[in-house]
Amino acid sequence: MIGPGDGFGAPLIGPPLPRRDGPAKVTGAARYATDEMPPGLAHGVFAESAIAAGRIRAVDAAAARAAPGVLAVLTHENAPRLAQVGQQGQAGRPGQSHMPLQDAHIFHAGQYVALVVAETIEAAEHAADLVRVEYEPDPAGPRARFEAHLDEAEVPPRIPLIGTPPVESCRGDPEAALAAAPVRLDLIYRTPVEHHVPMEQHGTVAAWDGDRVTVWDSTQHVYGVRSIVAKFLALEEEQVRVLSAFTGGAFGSKGSSWPHITFAAVAAREVGRPVRIWLGRRQGFVGAGHRSPTLQRMRVGAGRDGRLQALLHEAVGHSSPYDAFSDATAVVSRMLYACPAIRTGHRIVRVNVNTPTAMRAPGEAQGSYALECAMDELAAELGLDPLELRLRNYTERDEDEGGKPYSSKALRECYRQGAERFGWARRPLAPRTQRDGRWRVGQGMATAVYPGKQSPASARVTLLPDGRAEMATATQEIGTGGSTALAMVAAAALGLPLDRLRFAYGDTRLPRAPVSAGSQSTASVGSAIRLAAEAALRRLAALSGGAPNPTAWAEQVANHGPVSGEATYEPPDKDARTHAPHAFGAQFCEVRVAEDSGEVRVARWTGAFGCGRIVNARTAHSQLLGGIVWGIGMALLEETHLDARLGRFMNRNLAEYLVAVNADVPVIDAFFLPDADEAVNPIGAKNVGEIGICGAAAAIANAVFHATGRRIRDLPITPERMLLGTGDAAAHAPSSA
Ligand code: MOS
Repeated sequence: MIGPGDGFGAPLIGPPLPRRDGPAKVTGAARYATDEMPPGLAHGVFAESAIAAGRIRAVDAAAARAAPGVLAVLTHENAPRLAQVGQQGQAGRPGQSHMPLQDAHIFHAGQYVALVVAETIEAAEHAADLVRVEYEPDPAGPRARFEAHLDEAEVPPRIPLIGTPPVESCRGDPEAALAAAPVRLDLIYRTPVEHHVPMEQHGTVAAWDGDRVTVWDSTQHVYGVRSIVAKFLALEEEQVRVLSAFTGGAFGSKGSSWPHITFAAVAAREVGRPVRIWLGRRQGFVGAGHRSPTLQRMRVGAGRDGRLQALLHEAVGHSSPYDAFSDATAVVSRMLYACPAIRTGHRIVRVNVNTPTAMRAPGEAQGSYALECAMDELAAELGLDPLELRLRNYTERDEDEGGKPYSSKALRECYRQGAERFGWARRPLAPRTQRDGRWRVGQGMATAVYPGKQSPASARVTLLPDGRAEMATATQEIGTGGSTALAMVAAAALGLPLDRLRFAYGDTRLPRAPVSAGSQSTASVGSAIRLAAEAALRRLAALSGGAPNPTAWAEQVANHGPVSGEATYEPPDKDARTHAPHAFGAQFCEVRVAEDSGEVRVARWTGAFGCGRIVNARTAHSQLLGGIVWGIGMALLEETHLDARLGRFMNRNLAEYLVAVNADVPVIDAFFLPDADEAVNPIGAKNVGEIGICGAAAAIANAVFHATGRRIRDLPITPERMLLGTGDAAAHAPSSA
């Protein structure tokens, strides 16, 4: 279809342009959802349940209602009844199916038990503290730790993520192949609950005009929010307009609609004034999902040459009492390496938490951790170099898609160039051989892979008589620089300088665009934009009775007035496509471990990636850096503690929920290889948003093993675990699979 030098005119690795929304953001001019202050704005604050399981026996809201500035207090006794909307799931579905304030059931700690609406935030917060609730706790206490109930693990009906991969897979006879394999490993890996903690916290403003409501929301999906608000309120979708000019980070937590969004509209209708609900950091830990913890059993069978003969990857996670959410944790093991016998599966255990949700590389982050650590353990078992082991299991075909060729695969080159830039060849094979004063030093590597997800997307491109152009699609700018990259796609397709393009997005009045998630936006929406630009040029050519002339259309347009083209890009589904699209990468890192304190420092990083066409080298590079920084956090820091007796998330703040900060991050050498993908879509772009975290935590854990000779299989690798050995899962019994 296309490649370098075709009519599209974009290079394989585009120029490193600064983001167009940068100045507005750094000067404070950018208006985020909760910056909207329609006249008469009132503020909503939720009161939270103190128990994690049971019932509300009685609510006394009299003091709250009498407090100064209070306009309304909604509880399950008086809140309007919402329509039933069904299971949570992928984009366009609610983040959780259970809506609070509808009945007396309490399913998780922090569940909303009252919504106070008041003149000011302070008045609403104060009154929310005055709501008195009497509970009837479940005598059995809450279920908090899913590992305590593995006997009740169930197979979820589906994996509710983009592409909905099958829950289970089997190729060959994995059990027999494992039993016959000369080398066998049986390992347990664990990852904890994590939270997204986006810099811009969750918040919504809703304002009614007659029977129509406008919702400003911090979201990854304006059309999804529109659909959910309309369903819960039993409105026509056209009665709901959703706007999102900017979203300050999301990472999956804003990919679906959570209860506060609908309740902003409910409250605004109740008090007859616009209402703003802003969850804040603490409430964001219970109000907008989290990453499910995982227990992963990896069984690996191989020949003495390191070639895989059997791979069994079984993942268990937790979900809420009311939704069967599962990450796609084991899916990575289906396709990354050549292997004749593979079984993968997912199970969930219901506990008293809010429904977990997608979080950056939802499943791939946890699953690639287990798979890539297991590969390292296999290499160590065989005395093989970990990179050599990957090369021996390299595959040119996607065995999970019946042996289809990849749309492109630059992984071999990622290994080669990454290893060279990192200096992998100088790494001693044996662990625990390098030291620098009190620091043990080691190097680890891992493969990164992320599927090339795409969804239908529409766009409109209008050529204007003054030589400028306007593009419109409802996609969201979630902080990635995606809106800049998409404008660059239009500029390339139109042969127009970037500063002559206006881009309208983040509004349900614009052509439909999918959720900005799954690393799919540039590929999906960019393809729609290219098609729309070409449609506009074709229309102009027809009007002018001549051939399209993308370099000199301004004069032609002047004769006709604005000329529009609209297009929808429909990616082929998995069965119909002829090629398997995936982005690939190779992660290399060096760690230093102080054995007296248990401290692990990441000292060096090289990541080489092949992700198809890179539209904007600068913003795409930032995505790699962000993903790798998350990998460092995942490996060493991030963990939400769920109290086993109370069922509460205990560290609902950034003082105790630790994310990687500058002092934790070395200079990261991350780069893209030219990766011509002529099969994936009309612009040849795959995905860059999530691949950076894939394999990153494994590379660190593998480097820690290389530095110290010790395997810590439970994340995060904290000083406590380094010192005390807890989490060294060799001694754990396998799951009851
Ligand atoms: Mo992402 S977790 O697909 O927003």
